[in-house]
Amino acid sequence: MLEINHVSMSYANGKVKAVDDLSLSLREGEIFGFLGANGAGKTTTIKMLTGILPINCGSISVCGHDISKDAIAAKRSFGYVPDSPVIYDKFTGREYIDFLGDIYGVPMSAREEVCADLLKKFSLSDAFDKRISGYSHGMKQKLAIIGALVHSPSLWVLDEPMMGLDPPSAFALKELMKKHRDAGKTVFFSTHVLDVAEKICDRVAIIGGGKLLLLGDVDEIKAKKGDESLEELFMSVAG
Ligand SMILES: Nc1ncnc2c1ncn2[C@@H]1O[C@H](COP(=O)(O)OP(=O)(O)O)[C@@H](O)[C@H]1O
Ligand SMILES: [Mg+2]
Repeated sequence: MLEINHVSMSYANGKVKAVDDLSLSLREGEIFGFLGANGAGKTTTIKMLTGILPINCGSISVCGHDISKDAIAAKRSFGYVPDSPVIYDKFTGREYIDFLGDIYGVPMSAREEVCADLLKKFSLSDAFDKRISGYSHGMKQKLAIIGALVHSPSLWVLDEPMMGLDPPSAFALKELMKKHRDAGKTVFFSTHVLDVAEKICDRVAIIGGGKLLLLGDVDEIKAKKGDESLEELFMSVAG
């Protein structure tokens, strides 16, 4: 459902190799954790798969659509929450969601259905008709999360989504990720918070220096290594 085939990306005229011949294949109905230390290449990979950065080497397809050759179809099939919520802050929350709903062609009734549930879960109902410029970082993050789900995408991509969320919101987000997976859809999220990954992921990839260091099934890792398993494994491959 998400196929990353031998992609590479360099910055600074090739001096910094951020992603180095990375390949990954995601299944339908799984929560996939994309793990790595700071600077490992997670955000760069996510920017390539969402079409923000060009792919000069290798290819990526989302739900069968090549992100370079068939960008609109690929973009229709995923929702994306960036690592810092960049949203038009002159809008109110409702105007922002309507803007996205218009772009994705989501009927009004479906928007309202998605929002009613999520606004309540994220305690954002009171702020929804206020300007985003007055929102806290966490509130913007939660609005970006709602915006990424407005078109009920098959793939939900989140870059460090737990950053800046208070405990109830982080809990609500984890529940939403599970709900997405249980509906047969796919969640791909980056994190360096291993406890979260261990709790909710079905599979994880650990990257370092832009390379895939380990790909594993979380239950198998736990069975083999016991508690503290993911942290130990992370330290042994990427520490
Ligand atoms: N715009 C940029 N220009 C130059 N180097 C960059 C840029 N963005 C990221 N990098 C470098 O690429 C590497 C991977 O960064 P990034 O993908 O942001 O990692 P992560 O999200 O895992 O922390 C790091 O060495 C980082 O310094
Ligand atoms: Mg990052």
